Amino acid sequence: MSLSSQPHTFRLSPADYGHLVEQATVAPEQYWARESTRLTWSTNPSQAHCTKDGWFPGGVLNASVNCLDRHLEKRGDQHALVWQAEETDRVVTFTYRTLHERVCRMANVLRQQGVQTGDRVAIHLPSVPEGLIAMLACARIGAIHVVLFGGFSPEAIADRLADSGAVLVITANMGRRGPKRIPFKTTLDAALDLRLEALAVRHVLVVSVTQDDVDLTTGRDMWLTPLLNEAPADCAAQDMPASAPLFLLYTSGSTGKPKGIVHGTGGYLVWASYTHELVFDHQEGDIFWCTADIGWITGHTYGVYGPLLNGGTILLFEGMPSYPGPGRWWSVIQDHKVTTFYTSPTAIRALMREGDEVVQRHDLSSLRVLGTVGEPISQEAWSWFNDHVGGGRCAFVDTWWQTESGGIMISPVPGAVREKPASATLPLPGVHPVLLDERGAPKEGATEGVLCLRGSWPGRALTIWNDAALFERTYLQPYPGYYFTGDGARRDEDGYYWITGRVDDVINVSGHRIGSAEIEDALATELAIAESAAIGVPHDLKGQGIVVYVVPRDNAPEDLHVRAAKAITSKVGRYAAPERIHVVPDLPKTRSGKSVRRLLRKIACGETEGFGDLSTLADPEIVATLIALIQVPK
Ligand code: WTA
Repeated sequence: MSLSSQPHTFRLSPADYGHLVEQATVAPEQYWARESTRLTWSTNPSQAHCTKDGWFPGGVLNASVNCLDRHLEKRGDQHALVWQAEETDRVVTFTYRTLHERVCRMANVLRQQGVQTGDRVAIHLPSVPEGLIAMLACARIGAIHVVLFGGFSPEAIADRLADSGAVLVITANMGRRGPKRIPFKTTLDAALDLRLEALAVRHVLVVSVTQDDVDLTTGRDMWLTPLLNEAPADCAAQDMPASAPLFLLYTSGSTGKPKGIVHGTGGYLVWASYTHELVFDHQEGDIFWCTADIGWITGHTYGVYGPLLNGGTILLFEGMPSYPGPGRWWSVIQDHKVTTFYTSPTAIRALMREGDEVVQRHDLSSLRVLGTVGEPISQEAWSWFNDHVGGGRCAFVDTWWQTESGGIMISPVPGAVREKPASATLPLPGVHPVLLDERGAPKEGATEGVLCLRGSWPGRALTIWNDAALFERTYLQPYPGYYFTGDGARRDEDGYYWITGRVDDVINVSGHRIGSAEIEDALATELAIAESAAIGVPHDLKGQGIVVYVVPRDNAPEDLHVRAAKAITSKVGRYAAPERIHVVPDLPKTRSGKSVRRLLRKIACGETEGFGDLSTLADPEIVATLIALIQVPK
């Protein structure tokens, strides 16, 4: 699409954008110093680059003040948050003033429960306003929030509670997913029982999302609402250094152990505000809907921080895309006049299947910007979303970034960067991608390689909680002098980037990052399994699906498939359930005993030739054995 066919007025022209790129490149210190003034600081930072103490050293600020207090004068009565419940006729709105009050009450409750500045507080909630309120309440008192995705199994929750040392957990009696009830509290109880001695959790606060009763452990558990109603409606905000951790968020990498990515306060907030304004062309009166769960980084940066920092209005929807019937999401856009809609390719693929008519029945003319994140989007899905949902009128931002980057890194900027369907296009001003060959040498021009980033940017994660060495090993050491993203990419003759997917052993299932090692570690707990390998294969709806190979021990029971599946869902969560489990006599391995995933991937995709030189395998015959053994569904 050409820029001129978009009828909207966008904030930036191509010339403005070019100017930003130039300034950010020629005079980065001045550029970021200026961008830092988007925030309100108690003490201004003395420098605007990355130091050993992170970005903006000397700066002191509070995140909740930046999201709420400073807007009160001008926007006190403007909606900050509009919550659309599962029921069509239930909408709860918060103005900046009422949200501020709610956050202050919650902060006071946390203080009353003994939470100190620097303590970790876990948040384990469905898509209800209390999630966002709890995050900002933590920020208000300088506690570090750790949001745990609702789909985690008890073991996954217990591991994260143990690693973070969380002292308090906020959960719900139940979550709702369409007609289903999700037992948040029971799942948390199971997690707490699993690792009782290893955990620091002293209190559990329970939000009543449904009418369901749940067991409360005396002395530990309390309903949240009565505490909130009694708490004072004002709470002084804690001043925090720019480099103080604002939150931890666990994500998967190529080791089995999930990593607690640590984001700081000053740099992260500058990045959230900068990227939200630039990429979503934020304008007065916008209604911003990000469909991501707050359990993921997208839900943090664009479901909470970015829009509030910029004085926007957030729409939060409790429900699913197609409940109670097809087209529910389109009704939400129509009813709330959403201007900016940010979702995932996985959701788009599922919605496409409902057919075009469902979309056409709705008035989606309020939309101005469409965005996607989390996985590569196909040209087909891009065009469908652009034409049928955006009516060909909207800017389309395919945004590439990751938990560790804090916010968007490569993306079109509406009105300023010409889109190409399914390309993340160009780096934002101040972001410097490079493509490297295997030996770490930069490749110039139109080419393909390992995607790394040169220099730092304000949103970059500070470290990994409890494991600074792992941060260095994972991101900084693989390609000295660069930050390693874990992704591969192609650059075309216009300098546009096309993300090709992970180059490490991370599988991307419906936008959820799952480490092969995480699955293999889970399988290793099943005694009847001698060894295993998990790989990703293309999947029509999910982007990638997981295929698992397991090698049984002697005398393994008949129901090994069932046991293997159970080991994965109980250790990781249902979202990691494999598509197929193959019980095999052995795996293709190098002589040093490493399984060769490239071969396993080909076999799982039903390929029967082109395996290359197999002579370096410990047992070259195994490849033919596996091909003969494995039935790949068409
Ligand atoms: C993938 C989500 C292609 C990528 C914000 C990255 C993408 C991982 C895109 C991060 C995109 C994210 N096109 N792939 N636009 N955006 N990815 O940490 O592999 O949950 O490394 O952060 O998702 O996933 P994470």
